[in-house]
Amino acid sequence: MSDRPYLIAPSILSADMANLAKEISKAEGSGADLLHVDVMDGRFVPNITVGIPVVKSLRSHTGLPIDAHLMIIEPDLYIEDFVAAGADIVTVQAETCVHLHRTLRAIREAGAKPAVALNPATPLSSIEYVLEELDMVLIMTVEPGFGGQEFIEAMLPKIGSLARIIEERQLPVDIQVDGGINKATIGKVVEAGANVFVAGTAIFGHGDVGEAIHALRKAIAEVTGKAK
Ligand code: DX5
Ligand code: ZN
Repeated sequence: MSDRPYLIAPSILSADMANLAKEISKAEGSGADLLHVDVMDGRFVPNITVGIPVVKSLRSHTGLPIDAHLMIIEPDLYIEDFVAAGADIVTVQAETCVHLHRTLRAIREAGAKPAVALNPATPLSSIEYVLEELDMVLIMTVEPGFGGQEFIEAMLPKIGSLARIIEERQLPVDIQVDGGINKATIGKVVEAGANVFVAGTAIFGHGDVGEAIHALRKAIAEVTGKAK
């Protein structure tokens, strides 16, 4: 289990897009820690969502840190724009970056925290030599593209291996998970070593955002004995 703080990151993908300001203020008022914005281009993933103007609008409505999860090809072209729009963390998919080290440096130079996401089939070795450049690694626990998919159990040993590497090297790197996270699955990823939890359906697909966040925190506490 991680000794870093446990953070809940609601994904707006499952929110009512016509009422985003209301949805995020409910999440913020209920103790969310980060706002997860899924940016999809219809190329890297078979879905299209939102982009830079939405991050910019969200920025003026929330004090929460914004994590832009870029599921887009050629992310380098847009890093500065996302940071200028207000992204605090920029997460790129390792599969889209030919020069990952350069991309991570570019994110930091632009003024945001760099993070890398790995698809389920992408091995940890793809980030082994850039871990020192990172603030966070995102282990995708579904194939990216859609909310509401089933958690892939085979990702648990991957999370565990990453947690061991980070501990051995004593790095200040968060382990985030994204996809199929709910009150039934969150305990397993906590035990495996994750400390940042993205949840879309479990938070915005529920009748009450506050209750949903509370249920996730309770499930974390059942495993760790502490809520944060
Ligand atoms: C999937 C996205 C996720 C998505 C998770 O491609 O990266 O952030 O919103 O949705 P749930 O929590 O419904 O699995
Ligand atoms: Zn995401």
